Amino acid sequence: MAVLVTGGAGYIGSQTCVHLLEAGKEIVVIDNFSNSSPKSSQAVREITGKDFPLIECDIRDEEKLDEVFSQYDIDSVIHFAGLKAVGESCQKPLEYYDNNIGGTVKLLSVMRKHGVKCIVFSSSATVYGEKHTAPFNEEMEAGGTTNPYGTTKLFIEQILKDLAASDPEWSVSLLRYFNPIGAHISGKIGEAPNGIPNNLMPYISQVAVGKREKLSVFGDDYDTPDGTGVRDYIHVADLADGHVVALDRALSVKGCEIFNLGTGKGVSVLELVNAFQKATGVKVPYVITARRPGDIATSYADPSKAERILGWKAKRDIFDACRDTWNWQKNNPNGFDD
Ligand code: NAD
Ligand code: UFG
Repeated sequence: MAVLVTGGAGYIGSQTCVHLLEAGKEIVVIDNFSNSSPKSSQAVREITGKDFPLIECDIRDEEKLDEVFSQYDIDSVIHFAGLKAVGESCQKPLEYYDNNIGGTVKLLSVMRKHGVKCIVFSSSATVYGEKHTAPFNEEMEAGGTTNPYGTTKLFIEQILKDLAASDPEWSVSLLRYFNPIGAHISGKIGEAPNGIPNNLMPYISQVAVGKREKLSVFGDDYDTPDGTGVRDYIHVADLADGHVVALDRALSVKGCEIFNLGTGKGVSVLELVNAFQKATGVKVPYVITARRPGDIATSYADPSKAERILGWKAKRDIFDACRDTWNWQKNNPNGFDD
């Protein structure tokens, strides 16, 4: 039996493939490579010494998906495939709704056709919206997303809840990630954004490697200890561990469950910059600029449910994440193009 990993060539997907293979699972990876390279899967093979099928397939292509499910003995799906740039989603909402929501509906239809009713889904802390105060817990009402990307996560969560309610054979695990950072400890796989990074950690590391002149810190007048935005940065390896245990749970328990995957600790922009400098010895010049529209002051998880039910807890800290990001970045300044 194999787990199908959609979007498995991407940043979080490739790291999770390593952990699945190390846990002795069989995997089948599909990706349309719209935001990744097949080279990441090659690196996963090198890291683990294990082989697996990698198939170019868009999740909106029902016929191709049907072939994949017919060809392989799949019993579960970890669903990473999706577009994820907040700003771009405001410019191209239809593309985001089509790719993320349309694609997920097609995937679920093909899964149902083949009797595969177990799915772990990549959701996001963004579904908590703006009305709650951190720490966010799974009992809080989701909603009030501020951009089409976030709304796709909210809607897909609802679709999966409705599906689980319609048929007691489904197992659905909704994993709400906080802010994934870091890279595989080998430096062979990591985040490789196209163009100017939207997110803090890849921006910091591109400044450190000399690709960008300086970091813009988006606002220092928030109601936080040093005035800069506070987030819950979670090492991608911890996130990957979370998927392995969530999958095992979904394979044995039916119904829909929601888990935050975060550390429970808030870290400010300047604290992350300082941690990076300390962990790597490399200076990261920055300037304070205006707030970025749509940003909230503080976001961090209450991760106690994942610990209680999955026995999962983040083990790595931001220094580990900075060291591993730097190891990846300095060896691969142009990502998988190197
Ligand atoms: P990523 O872009 O590196 O990975 C997504 C992968 O999906 C890419 O390899 C891309 O080529 C593929 N893909 C996109 N559309 C596809 C389609 N229609 N068919 C097949 N493949 C497709 O992003 P990531 O950071 O690894 O994120 C993985 C998932 O986690 C996404 O769903 C994302 O929304 C979610 N998530 C990410 C973050 C984050 O900060 N990185 C936070 C919360 C949630
Ligand atoms: N920031 C800067 N400068 C930058 C980039 C970011 O100061 O160049 C600041 C932001 O203002 C924020 C913090 O760094 O305070 C983190 O910003 P990111 O863009 O790295 O992360 P966000 O929390 O804004 O967004 C992330 C994901 C979204 C997801 C959201 C909630 O990118 O996809 O977490 O889960 F929706």
